[in-house]
Amino acid sequence: MSTWANLGLQDSASPLMEQLIFFHDHALLILVMITVLVGYLMFMLFFNSYINRFLLHGQLIEMIWTILPAIILLFIALPSLRLLYLLDEINEPSVTLKSIGHQWYWSYEYSDFNNVEFDSYMIPTNELANDGFRLLDVDNRIVLPMNSQIRILVTAADVIHSWTVPALGVKVDGTPGRLNQTNFFINRPGLFYGQCSEICGANHSFMPIVIESVPVNYFIKWISNNVNSSLD
Ligand code: CUA
Repeated sequence: MSTWANLGLQDSASPLMEQLIFFHDHALLILVMITVLVGYLMFMLFFNSYINRFLLHGQLIEMIWTILPAIILLFIALPSLRLLYLLDEINEPSVTLKSIGHQWYWSYEYSDFNNVEFDSYMIPTNELANDGFRLLDVDNRIVLPMNSQIRILVTAADVIHSWTVPALGVKVDGTPGRLNQTNFFINRPGLFYGQCSEICGANHSFMPIVIESVPVNYFIKWISNNVNSSLD
């Protein structure tokens, strides 16, 4: 979760987010090098006193400053493509969670477990516990096992929403009439917070996501309690 004055990315809780952070740092490093070089050249131009009356063209330098940026772009494009296909890969998920966006809350279904389903609403500020996070905590959390491949199916019932959890590197649009799929692997226990990130109406800011990442045996206990109560 993002805390006060944290302007960068959140700490990763999944291998995909780790890769996204590595790529971000790599791209930023190239960006800084280009900015410094161009900045230096522009600054030095002010003090340039070399003048050549007969200079009309410089084919060598033109070749260099055309090809060099193309090569630099390749150093961004290839890792970017690698990451794109890595994010798209589905690795034999052991649990599938379906999340449906509504105006303005999420509802969830565990289709592998007798379709256990529930709604997840934000807790309003006036009902918040003393240790609660304002605009971020929900009444019913998603519980998921850590160290397992999770598949997430995202859709929506009314308008477009977006299921976004930064620490896991997940951001998938929920679109009415379509079913989007992605997957992730949570590599530590804890609470992971997210928010809708598709401008979906008046209460867009008030449909957060909370994932409770627990050991597998805790998850089995939790899901079997819910399956039993759904059978009653
Ligand atoms: Cu749902 Cu913004």
